[in-house]
Amino acid sequence: MAVRKILRIGDPFLLQRANEVEEFDTPELHQLIEDMLETMAACDGAGLAAPQIGVDQRVVIFGVKQNPRYPEAEQVPLTVLINPVIEPRSDEMQMAWEGCLSVPGMRGAVPRYTNIRYVGVNQYGEVIDQTGSGFHARVVQHECDHLDGILYPSRIEDMRYFGFTYELFAEGSLANPQPLGE
Ligand code: NI
Repeated sequence: MAVRKILRIGDPFLLQRANEVEEFDTPELHQLIEDMLETMAACDGAGLAAPQIGVDQRVVIFGVKQNPRYPEAEQVPLTVLINPVIEPRSDEMQMAWEGCLSVPGMRGAVPRYTNIRYVGVNQYGEVIDQTGSGFHARVVQHECDHLDGILYPSRIEDMRYFGFTYELFAEGSLANPQPLGE
């Protein structure tokens, strides 16, 4: 196992569409998942996508127990999701702050579907078919975006709500109130 280096925004690799995984339960895939789990844990991340560690495959992991980066977030079961497809369960969207290990030290307010279904497989090729809402749904949408080369800043609709965490959340700052729409 190894903690892998996380690519940062500006690296063109993060803007590519990643490839479908075609073989499951292989030593290479298990090694990738182990490295991703270890890397996410080392960074206190809520999720991680394979392209963030330079791997061109449609693999994401996510899960939140108690996360110091998101102290108020609800728990999300630890999940390995490969070749995912997301389907909104309603048109309702929510605006909330988001961060990304590839965009360190920053936050932005991003609209995401409130309720989703996500379907894919795990590292053994077993079907995953789950629903999630709120923060859970947000994390899945954020991670799956990475597989299509989309980083959250490109989904921000009002750039006043994007910046360095320590500035945004400073006392008396513009963005300290709830972002738009909530
Ligand atoms: Ni991210």
